[in-house]
Amino acid sequence: MKVNKIFVAFAVLLVCVLGYGFFSSKKGEETKKVDNKEVKVGVLQLLSHPALDQIYKGLEDGLKKEGYEVGKNLKIDLQNAQGDQSNLASMGQKLVTDNNDILVGITTPATLSLSNATKDKPIIMGGITYPVEAGLIKAEDKPGNNITGVSDRTPIKQQLEIMKKVLPNMKKVGILYTASEDNSVKQAQEAEKLAKELGLEVKVSTVANTNDIQQVTESLASQTDAIFVPIDNTIASAMATVVKVTDAKKIPVFPSADTMVADGGLLGLGVDQYQIGVETAKVVAKVLKGADTKDMPIVLANEGVIYLNEAKAKQLGIEIPKEIKDKAKVVDKK
Ligand code: TRP
Repeated sequence: MKVNKIFVAFAVLLVCVLGYGFFSSKKGEETKKVDNKEVKVGVLQLLSHPALDQIYKGLEDGLKKEGYEVGKNLKIDLQNAQGDQSNLASMGQKLVTDNNDILVGITTPATLSLSNATKDKPIIMGGITYPVEAGLIKAEDKPGNNITGVSDRTPIKQQLEIMKKVLPNMKKVGILYTASEDNSVKQAQEAEKLAKELGLEVKVSTVANTNDIQQVTESLASQTDAIFVPIDNTIASAMATVVKVTDAKKIPVFPSADTMVADGGLLGLGVDQYQIGVETAKVVAKVLKGADTKDMPIVLANEGVIYLNEAKAKQLGIEIPKEIKDKAKVVDKK
């Protein structure tokens, strides 16, 4: 009898201990789940080119650093419009109706499409060159609506001055961009004005889409000493076509993004695309924690770094002045 009593007491104790462990761990999981309530981020990207893919990667890694991790407490719905305007419109709508908590626009056209789809849900810009001119926000220091984020521009005047230092004998500069990209129009206008102020002759050429890049570049390259390309999505997606033509004529291309230099440009003042994504993630995190886009100034990614394609310089027989070379970051494709 005594043995039985001890046995029962032991069994009761065991049940209590196991039971406590079981329920307390359940409770622990529940609290964690509340703390880590899943956040839904909808991302709209215009198309795939190396710069935009880098921005997206930076965004995902940046969100992880901010404590939001895919598969844990973060769901990302990435929509890529493959450069198609009607895709942009329908995907923008879908990301809004799918109840994402926050939206991210990669490129000006993508952000415009999101802003057409919602005036309430926060939209964070991932590398938009001129958000005011594109009609996205009222002012860069105080957007005044549901949109804020990061700009990727670098000073155009500085870019042209660098071009002149690299090519002291340059007389005629070509400017190549896509007529339908709001972000490029403004940069090209500015570049034209500044180049004239620097005493250069200017020839501006536009493309409508990737189909006419080859022909337009051929004509521009045969009339100029060098070509300046602003931050332009269509050209960025077809750098290979541009460079094939310019290489044949030995005309250097000066783009405004690191990836475009790596893709065959000679040299350019640009912003690290991956870093744009990381900065965008920081803004996303702030808004998720309650900051209001209306009052959040636009973040300028950084002052810009000179990116140099050394192999291209060699190929074109261009000597890069030491002063510039010392500052430059080499980004040749291996
Ligand atoms: N700034 C571009 C826009 O407003 C998008 C973009 C970001 C981009 N980085 C780039 C375009 C690099 C070309 C190359 O649409």
